[in-house]
Amino acid sequence: MSLRKYLVGGNWKSNGSMAFAKSFTNDVLNKLAFDPKNVDVVVSPTNLHLPAVQANIGNNVNIATQNISLTGPGAFTGEVSACMAQDAGIRYTLTGHSERRSLFGESDADVATKTKNGLMFDMTVLLCIGEQLAEREGGVTNDVNARQLAAVREQVDDWSNIVIAYEPVWAIGTGKVATPEVAQETHAAIREWLAANVSKEAADGTRILYGGSVSDANAAELITQPDIDGFLVGGASLKPAFHQIVAACNEHKA
Ligand code: 13P
Repeated sequence: MSLRKYLVGGNWKSNGSMAFAKSFTNDVLNKLAFDPKNVDVVVSPTNLHLPAVQANIGNNVNIATQNISLTGPGAFTGEVSACMAQDAGIRYTLTGHSERRSLFGESDADVATKTKNGLMFDMTVLLCIGEQLAEREGGVTNDVNARQLAAVREQVDDWSNIVIAYEPVWAIGTGKVATPEVAQETHAAIREWLAANVSKEAADGTRILYGGSVSDANAAELITQPDIDGFLVGGASLKPAFHQIVAACNEHKA
């Protein structure tokens, strides 16, 4: 079992409504059964729905933005900067989600700058990395992850507020979850990269989450792996199944 505190994140992506944000917070998030000493729980609605969750949440659940700006405040229409998120009481952000990388053209360097910006404003950053199917099949998974991490290493020395979310792109939204063995092997390689390129403390202390088709049916088995420190959940984070995923992590840690 991992020695690190677990973290379970729920990434709502571009889903939800005001009514859903309120009812899901009251009916599911506020009833999650976990000890915050064992598990951090972080939910990431759209920026529009975030205040409705924030106003109704009462269960040690944290809130994250799904993205933050490359820049500070100013004439950057449509962007929300890290300092605004901090001002709004938001202590977590995602960066580098594969949908941001592939659909919105974010480069490794962009993701690194966004990560640095979040850290600069005291946020814990859930840095998403992961390979495409062709890269997995081509045997270059560890190289892809190393390249994405190295871009962040160029801009960030202190990794103590980074959580890595390993999300193989072929597993996202497909129902094709990585096997516990495949996820464990890749997480171990990420930890080796941290030891070689950041520090032994970062390798031992950084939480590495798995993401990609995590559900109430597979969470309990995945969480038994020693280098899996929690999950970043998409589709199932919008459903009551999120309760079972958080409970599986809490029970395994307890
Ligand atoms: P799914 O859990 O829907 O596969 O999405 C994973 C994800 O992208 C979380 O960020």
